[in-house]
Amino acid sequence: MTGVALPLGFSLEPLQRSHQRRRFDCGQSEVNDWLHTKALQHQDKRLSATRVLIDQDRAVAGFYTLATGQVDFGDLPSDLARKLPRRALPVAILAWLGVSVTLQGQKLGDLLLAQALRDCYEAGQTFAFVAVILDCVDDRAKAFYHRWDFAQLPGNPYRLFLSAQTLTAMMTSRAR
Ligand SMILES: CC(C)(COP(=O)(O)OP(=O)(O)OC[C@H]1O[C@@H](n2cnc3c(N)ncnc32)[C@H](O)[C@@H]1OP(=O)(O)O)[C@@H](O)C(=O)NCCC(=O)NCCS
Repeated sequence: MTGVALPLGFSLEPLQRSHQRRRFDCGQSEVNDWLHTKALQHQDKRLSATRVLIDQDRAVAGFYTLATGQVDFGDLPSDLARKLPRRALPVAILAWLGVSVTLQGQKLGDLLLAQALRDCYEAGQTFAFVAVILDCVDDRAKAFYHRWDFAQLPGNPYRLFLSAQTLTAMMTSRAR
């Protein structure tokens, strides 16, 4: 599996019990709580997969969680839904993303998002989906994702999507 270039001394690893996940703080209690108490349980139950960015001191510098899901045909924008069957449709879900407050502003968020989208793209070669979906925790997070071509789903200002076509174009035309 190909990956984005990590800063020297950092590694990206599947979340394990030995990681210091309870010390992680990204400044957002909901996101912290997910990593502290739920991410590993959900991973053990095969509900979602979390990858953690580990720094030189083995601390968790950031993480993201991916899952699969469905959206109803009627929830998609009409230009995307037009060619699709009128039923529940498969999607990849970028469920959570966070960077440690001590390391924010150093492009690690962009790096983790790039890798999360690459994971989605590569998984999509085997298990197809029509879009990557995510729910923003607040307007600041929404602004962060808007920079990456995510668009709002009609009727839900905090649910964003990136179509599989856009993802493919992104992954095949740009070195992200
Ligand atoms: C959102 C978050 C992951 C960004 O991580 P980060 O490492 O600080 O971001 P980066 O350094 O990669 O920033 C890349 C760009 O995004 C912009 N950016 C960063 N955080 C942003 C925010 N909250 N809102 C808008 N833009 C933001 C930066 O200004 C930068 O833009 P530039 O390239 O024009 O300079 C981080 O702030 C975080 O963990 N927040 C709390 C948890 C959260 O909101 N998660 C997302 C929802 S689950």
